[in-house]
This record gives sequence, structure tokens and C-alpha cells, in this order.
Amino acid sequence: MRPAELIEQKRNGGEHDAAELAELILAYARDDVPDYQLAAWCMAVYFQGLTPAETHALTDAMIRSGETLDLGAALGRKVVDKHSTGGVGDKTSIAVGPIVAACGVPLGKMSGRGLGHTGGTLDKLESIPGFRVELTTDEMIQQLREVGMAIVGQTANLVPADKKLYALRDVTATVDIVPLIASSIMSKKLAAGAQAIVLDVKVGDGAFMKTLDDARVLAEVMREIGTMAGREVTCLLTDMDQPLGRAVGNALEVHEARDTVRGDGPADFTELVLEAAARLLAYSDLGIDLDEGRRRAEAAVDDGSALEVYERWIHAQGGDPDPGALEQAPVRRVVPAPRDGVVTRLGALDVGVAALELGAGRRTKADPIDHAVGVLCFAKRGDTVLEGDDLAEVHARTEETAERAAAAVLAAYEIGERAPADHGIVLDIVA
Ligand code: URA
Repeated sequence: MRPAELIEQKRNGGEHDAAELAELILAYARDDVPDYQLAAWCMAVYFQGLTPAETHALTDAMIRSGETLDLGAALGRKVVDKHSTGGVGDKTSIAVGPIVAACGVPLGKMSGRGLGHTGGTLDKLESIPGFRVELTTDEMIQQLREVGMAIVGQTANLVPADKKLYALRDVTATVDIVPLIASSIMSKKLAAGAQAIVLDVKVGDGAFMKTLDDARVLAEVMREIGTMAGREVTCLLTDMDQPLGRAVGNALEVHEARDTVRGDGPADFTELVLEAAARLLAYSDLGIDLDEGRRRAEAAVDDGSALEVYERWIHAQGGDPDPGALEQAPVRRVVPAPRDGVVTRLGALDVGVAALELGAGRRTKADPIDHAVGVLCFAKRGDTVLEGDDLAEVHARTEETAERAAAAVLAAYEIGERAPADHGIVLDIVA
């Protein structure tokens, strides 16, 4: 296999032989193919795509680049998992996990870090003082037995090809490509051994998939990869035209996830969390249907058992579950409504970028994260506001960054006369 020939073949719209494609990916994972050749190949894929057979071969090669886990065998249970394609204010796993675990279904999840304007669950969890994301596989299994849930970083040996490839894609404008996203996500889910997977495919201006049609294509491709591997897969296509919930920024999002676990979360986020939890429960070995899953998820929130699991889980990973322990930003700046009206738009990308500029995310992989900063969006699409009402609140490190972020957040809002149609948080389901 000569990488230059494969790049040329793809550039010209040809189809790779599965064995050759696997060789390219495995050689890249071993550092035998340089970044610049893989970057050129990714760009060729951007323009020419991959056939279903190539996408399967890529996913399979990514899995074979490292170890695989069988959490199901280790726990003697059917294991369920969830994953999001990434968005703004997306702290869903932090709230879903404790609810599902409180209903008696273990949820062991490998999460990622944020890059660009989308946040990562690991960065959010690290805003909790003492929280450890680096557990060994044995520690993770032990914690799943004792507490019922764990969220950890991807171990070095699980799909190492994706780790390298994702970092490369992030800096070469080759992230938003359906077969590459699908193989990246599904290789990690399949390698971690989940038998049933709920995928949250974000749609809208703050997501990689900007339209419902594109998101449906991604969902179908991921579902097919999962089904061919003998796994059950449901994709929830969910709104990312505005930030999810109110909080954007690491500690602020942990606070909101905890509030939601105890039944005090924003409506859109609560709905998504309960829907995802219900579907995971319906997939589990409890033998219940979706309605019963929803009923049990709601009961776990109402009776406080989900909050109890949340606290035990954070403790088990070395963190302090008291929300008072989360760092707070020294400067707060309210963003007032400039006029009376209805919020017709709240741009997710604009708010995500404002949070990133405050220091909540990374511009490059090496950047440190400021866990305390971010934005609280009090007014969401469809809300009526009066001039001077608080639209949002910026949490910043300095007056200067607060000023800039407040202007950017104000620009993310459009206030009009008539409420836009309310389509709910779940736009479609591919199951
Ligand atoms: N999340 C992933 O894990 N991979 C992608 O390519 C995009 C989102």
C-alpha cells in the first residue's frame, strides 16, 4: 500500500479496497504514515465521500488499531451507552447517567474533550474539584459494580487511530464529514462493548450537521454500522440551533446538570435527558418498554434517588459533589434586552464562540481551560421579554473579556414581534 496512490484514487473519485484502507489507517496509528498524507486523504474524502463498504472498513480498522473492552461480560449485564455528536451547552451525559443508574442499569461511558466551540464532557467534569477522569479499566468496572456509573477518558489503547485522526481533522477542516464522524463515533462505541446505543445527533447552527436532512444521513450511517455489528441503535435528532438548557461553560453546566438530576432543570434540557434515559432503560435488560422507562426515569428524579447516585458517583471519582465547591468567575455581566418582544433566535454558534473566547474552551489542543467562565442564557427562543429584562449573564475572568462576551451574546439574540414555531427539542427519531 502506497499512501500517495490511495490519496490519488480517492481524489479521483475511486473506491478503496477494504484491505488497503485498513492498512492505511493501521499504518497511520503506528506512526508509519505521516499526518500530511492522512490530512490530504481526509480532504479527498471531504470532496468524494466514502461508500458504505469503505465506511465499514474504516470503522473496523479503527477498532482494530487498539484494544477492545467487554463491559457486558465483566458486569454480567447488558450494557447500554450514549453519545452526542457535539454541541453548545451539551451536558446530557452528566444528567442521564445518574438517572439510568438509579433505575438499576449501569452506565459506563468514555467521553471526550471539547475542541472548537463545542464543549467536552471530560472538561466539564474536571471543573469539579478533585474529579479524576483517568480511571483504569479495572477501576471503571469496580465503580460500575459499586455505584452503577462511571464517565472516564478514552483509555490510550481504545481506538488510538481515532484519537490521532480526530485531532488531525480538527486542525485541517475535515471534521464535518459524515463517514468520518460516523466511523469516529461508532468505532469508540463498538470498541467499548455497548450492546445498545442511543446517539444524540445534534442539528443546527451550533452542530456539525446544519440541516435535518444531513443529520438524518449521519444517523442512518451510524445506525447501519451498529446494526451490522449486531448492536441496537436509536438516533435522536435534536435541536442545536440554540444552546441546550441555559448554561454554557464547564462549571456552570455541571451545576445545571445537577439541578436537572434533582428535578430543577430547564425545560428543553430536562426533556432531552428524560427521553434519552427512557430509551436507554427500554434497551436495557430490565425488560421494560419506552413508557415504563420514561415513568421510572421521572420517578428517579422525583424521589431523589438519581441525585443520590450523582453524589456517590462524583465522590467515587474523587470529586466534591457540593455545587458550592465549583469555582465561580469573579466578574458577572448581565445582558439586558434592548426592547420589548419575543426571542426569535438565539444563535448556538455565537454563544459557543463567546464562551470559547471567555476561556471555556480551547483554540488549540494545548490551551488551558478556565472552568469558571461561561454564559447563562435566561431567555430562550419563544420567550417574551421586556426592555431591560435579563436576557443572559456572562461569567468572566476580567471586566474586559466580560464586556466583549456581553456584546457577542447580545448579537446572538434576535427579538421580534411573533413567537417562532415551537418544534420541541427532539426533532426526529431514527430507530
Ligand atoms: N464526535 C466524535 O467522537 N467524533 C467526531 O468525528 C465528531 C464528534
